[in-house]
Amino acid sequence: MPHSAVLIPGDGIGPEVAQAVTKVLAAADAPIKWIERQAGVAALKDDGDSTLPDSTVDSIIEHGIALKGPCTTPIGGGFSSINVELRKRLNLYGAVRPIRSLDGVPTRYEDVDVVIIRENTEGLYSGIENVITKGVVTSLKVATAEACERIARFAFNYAVTRGRKKITTFHKANIMKLSDGMFIRCARKVHEEDYPNFDYGEQIIDAGCMRMVQDPSQFDIILCENLYGDVMSDLCAGLVGGLGVTPGANFGETIAVFEAVHGSAPDIAGKNIANPLALIMSGVMMLNYIAESRDDQDAKASAYRIRDAYNACLLAGEKTQDLGGNLGTKEFAQAVITRLK
Ligand code: NAI
Repeated sequence: MPHSAVLIPGDGIGPEVAQAVTKVLAAADAPIKWIERQAGVAALKDDGDSTLPDSTVDSIIEHGIALKGPCTTPIGGGFSSINVELRKRLNLYGAVRPIRSLDGVPTRYEDVDVVIIRENTEGLYSGIENVITKGVVTSLKVATAEACERIARFAFNYAVTRGRKKITTFHKANIMKLSDGMFIRCARKVHEEDYPNFDYGEQIIDAGCMRMVQDPSQFDIILCENLYGDVMSDLCAGLVGGLGVTPGANFGETIAVFEAVHGSAPDIAGKNIANPLALIMSGVMMLNYIAESRDDQDAKASAYRIRDAYNACLLAGEKTQDLGGNLGTKEFAQAVITRLK
C-alpha cells in the first residue's frame, strides 16, 4: 500500500527540483502517493490570500508526512517566513541536517560526517520584533526550558539510536547568559540524568566555527538553538560541496516534513540548472523514515536504490553545474533514473 505524503513544490527553484524528486521516486518504485499542496508565493498565485493556506497545514496534519520545496521570504520587510511559521504551527521542533562528504564531489575535506540538530521553534526566530522609538528596534530571543530540554532529549535519542559518537552544543552563553545559558544547562541536565556515558561537549560558537573549518572530523553531532543551527547548516554545507547536496528533515511528535537546507535560489530559478540532489536526498530521508516508523521494506529498498544511483552518477562525473558538471536539473534526474538498479 502506498503512503500518502504531501508535496509542497514551493517557490523559485522549488517546482523544478520537486519535479525531479517525484520522477526519481516513481522510477524507483517508492511506495508514495503524492498529495500536492501549495505554500509560499506559489499559494498566492493560485488565487489564495495566504502564503500558508489552512488546507496545506491540515493536509500535513492528516497525512503526517510532507516533502517541501523552498519558500521565498522577502528580505527586510514584507510577509514573515512561511518556513518558520510552518515549523511553529506544526510544532516541528527538531531539525536534522546530515552533512556528509560524497565520493565524486571533491572538496577541501574528506570523510566529513556531521549532523546538525537545530531547535526549530524559538530563539530569535520567534518573530517578536518591536520599534521602540524612531531608530531603535528590538528582536526578542525566546528560550523556554521545555523546548531546550526537548531538543536536547531529541538529540541524545537520535545520537544513541543511530550509533553516533558525540554531541557538541554550540552556544554563546558567555554573552547571552540567560537564553543560551538555559540551552546548555538543559543539555547538561539531559546528559547527566539520562545519557551520562555518552560523550558530550560544548563550544562557544565563534571558536567552534573556526575549529569546524580547520578540521571537521573533530565533530559528530552539533546541537544548536535556532539561529545558530541555520547558520551552521550552510557553513557545514560548504564543507561537502554546497547547498546542492545537503538534505534535511523537521520532526515533531507525530509529523515529519522533509526539505533541503537550501532556499528558493531566485538567481537560478527557471533555468534548469538547480541541483535537485539535496531534495532527492531529503526524499531518501523521507523513505527511510517511512521504512522505520511504518516498517515498510519497499520504502527501504527504494531508498537504497536511489542512493546507490545518485552515488554512481556522481562517481561517473554526471553532475550539475554547482558541482563542476554540465547536466541540467532534468538531465541529472534522468541520469539518476538511468542508473537505478
Ligand atoms: P539560497 O539557498 O536560496 O541560495 C544561496 C546560493 O546557493 C545561491 O547562489 C543559489 O543559487 C545557490 N543554490 C541554492 N540551492 C541550490 C541548488 N539546489 N543548486 C544549485 N545552487 C543552489 O539562499 P538565499 O539566496 O539566501 O535565499 C533565497 C530565498 O530562499 C530567500 O527568500 C530565503 O528566505 C529563502 N530560503 C528558504 C528556505 C526554505 O524554504 N527552507 C531556506 C533558506 C532560504
